Amino acid sequence: MSPFKIFFFAALLAAVFSFSAADFNSDVNVAWGNGRGKILNNGQLLTLSLDRSSGSGFQSKTEYLFGKIDMQIKLVPGNSAGTVTTFYLKSEGSTWDEIDFEFLGNMSGDPYTLHTNVYTQGKGDKEQQFYLWFDPTANFHTYSILWNPQRIILTVDGTPIREFKNSESIGVLFPKSKPMRMYASLWNADDWATRGGLVKTDWSKAPFMASYRSIKIEGSSCSPSSSWYTQQMDATSQARLRWVQKNYMIYNYCTDRKRFPQGIPRECAPSA
Ligand SMILES: *[C@@H]1O[C@H](CO)[C@@H](O)[C@H](O)[C@H]1NC(C)=O
Repeated sequence: MSPFKIFFFAALLAAVFSFSAADFNSDVNVAWGNGRGKILNNGQLLTLSLDRSSGSGFQSKTEYLFGKIDMQIKLVPGNSAGTVTTFYLKSEGSTWDEIDFEFLGNMSGDPYTLHTNVYTQGKGDKEQQFYLWFDPTANFHTYSILWNPQRIILTVDGTPIREFKNSESIGVLFPKSKPMRMYASLWNADDWATRGGLVKTDWSKAPFMASYRSIKIEGSSCSPSSSWYTQQMDATSQARLRWVQKNYMIYNYCTDRKRFPQGIPRECAPSA
C-alpha cells in the first residue's frame, strides 16, 4: 500500500472506532421496561422512563475486567423524590463484584444525593454519599468509573469524588477477578430513597425521564495496555478529591463509628 493509502485506511479505522465508542446501538441493549427505554438519534441518545407500572434499564453487550466508562447523564427534573437513576458495573453470581453510582431523587429544589458503593464477592457496606456542586437536571454531566488492578476512581465532570484503592496487602477484598457488565436504570425506590423513605413518589408527575448520551467505553476482558490500566491521581486530582470530600460529602462509611463498633474498616486507615 502507498503511504497515502495507509494513512487513509488508518484515518478511516480511527473514525469508525471513535464513532462506535459513542453509540448506544453498538454498545448496549435496552434490557427491560417494555418500551420505556429508547435509543434515539442514531444511537447518540438513550432515554429511560418510569411510571407507576414500571421503570426501565439498559446494559452493555460486553463484560469488562478492567476499564474506563464515561457516561453523560441528565437526571429527572422537578419533583424526582422516590426515583433512583443508576449507572453501575456488576458481575454475575452470588459472590458478585459491583461499583455503583446511584442518584437519589428529591423534591423540587432539594438536592439529589449521589450514592456510591463498592462490592467485592457479594460484600458491600462501603457507601459514600455526596451532593453535587451543580444542578444535575439542567444539563448533561459526565460521570465516570475507572477501575484497574490498583484502584477505582469515580469522577464527575473530570473531578474525582472517590478513590477506592486496592488494599489486599492488609486483607481487604478488591474487585479484580470478575468481568463486569455496565448497567443503567431508572426505577421507583420510594420505600428508602428520599429522606429515608419519608417522601414518596408523586405519580401525578409521571412519566419521569432520565437521559443518557456520549457513552464511551474503553474496557478489556483480558490484559490491556491502555493508559487507564495504570492510571493514578496526580497532585491536582488529589486536591480536587479533597475539595469534594470536604465540601460535598454527606456520608462516609469510614467515619461511621456507630455502624462499625468493632473499629472502622481497615482500608479507611489514613495509611492504607
Ligand atoms: C433531599 O433534601 C433534603 C433536604 O435538603 C436532604 O436532607 C436530603 O439529603 C436530600 N436527598 C435525599 C435523597 O433525600
